[in-house]
Amino acid sequence: MFPVSRPRRLRRSAAIRELVRETSLDPGDFVYPLFVRPGRGIKDEISAMPGNYHFSVDRLIEEVGRAMEDGILSVLLFGLPERKDEVGSEAYDDDAAVQSAVRSLKEHYPDLIVMTDVCLCEYTSHGHCGVVDEGRVLNDPTLKLLAAAALSQARAGADIVAPSDMMDGRVGAIREALDGAGHSDVVIMSYAAKYASAFYGPFREAADSAPQFGDRFSYQMDPANADEALREIGMDLDEGADIVMVKPALAYLDVIRNVKESYAVPLAAYNVSGEYSMLAAAAEKGWIDRERTMLEILTAIKRAGADIILTYHAREAARLLR
Ligand code: PBG
Repeated sequence: MFPVSRPRRLRRSAAIRELVRETSLDPGDFVYPLFVRPGRGIKDEISAMPGNYHFSVDRLIEEVGRAMEDGILSVLLFGLPERKDEVGSEAYDDDAAVQSAVRSLKEHYPDLIVMTDVCLCEYTSHGHCGVVDEGRVLNDPTLKLLAAAALSQARAGADIVAPSDMMDGRVGAIREALDGAGHSDVVIMSYAAKYASAFYGPFREAADSAPQFGDRFSYQMDPANADEALREIGMDLDEGADIVMVKPALAYLDVIRNVKESYAVPLAAYNVSGEYSMLAAAAEKGWIDRERTMLEILTAIKRAGADIILTYHAREAARLLR
C-alpha cells in the first residue's frame, strides 16, 4: 500500500512505459477494406467516408501498392456490380469487378493476402443479403448462391473468403463447395457474430447496399445479446470456420473479450464504417485529435482480445506505427 506502492513509478518515462506496456499494435494486425467497381481510371471518394474511395481495378492496384509500402499485408474487397438483380448474379460472375480485382492483385502482389466479402446485398436489387420471397429473406435457397460466390472468388485466387450475410449454415455450405472443387486451402473468415447495427450507415453508401424495404433484424443479431454471440461463434467453428469475427468492434468490446476467453481461435474484429466516420467528422471539426483517438480505439480493440482488426484506418495507422 501507499506510500510503498507507487504505480506512477512505472509511468515515469516513455521507455519505462514501453517496457511495461501490455498491448501493442502491429501493421500486420490490420486488414484494409477496399471497394472495387467496374470501369477504368476510377478513384471516386465516398462522401460519408472521407479518405476512402471506389476504385476501378487499375486504380486499386496503385492503392494497394501504396498500402503495402505502408506495411499492410492484407486487403478485404467489396464489389459494386454493373447491374443489380433479384438474385445478385454478379456476386458469382467470374468476370465481375471483385473477381477481376483478385486476379489482378494476385498477379501484381503474390504475397498479398486477398480477402473477399461473400454476401449478396451489394448485388441484389432489393439490397438484402439473401433471396427474397414475399418480403421474407429465405435462408436455405440463399446458401447455394453464397457458396457459388465464394467458389467464384476462390477460382479467381482469393486466399480468404469472408461470409457476412448471417444466413444459418452458410459456413458449412461454403466449406463443402470449396473442398468439393479442390479449394481446401482457402481460408474461411466468418462474420460469425454480426449485429444489426446502425454503425453500418456509411458503408451502405459505399457499397450501395441499403435494403430497399424492411431491415436486417431477421438475420443479423440483436445488439442487446452477448451469450448468443458465443453460440453463433461455436456453430461457425463446428461448420469449419478458420477465423471468426465480431462486428462492429467499438460498441462490442465485451463480446470480443467473451469470445477470446471462450475459444482459442484467431479472432477478428471489424472497426466499421460508422466508427470511422464519427471519428473523421469530429476530427474535421477540430473537436478531437484524429491520430491519437484512432490509435486509442485500435489499441482498445486489440486489448479486448482481437488478433486481427479490419479497419479503414489501416494505412494511416500502419504509417504511424513505423
Ligand atoms: C455486407 C456487409 C456490411 C458490412 C460488411 N459487409 C453491411 C451490412 O451488413 O449492412 C458493413 C461494413 C462497415 O460498415 O464498415 N453484408
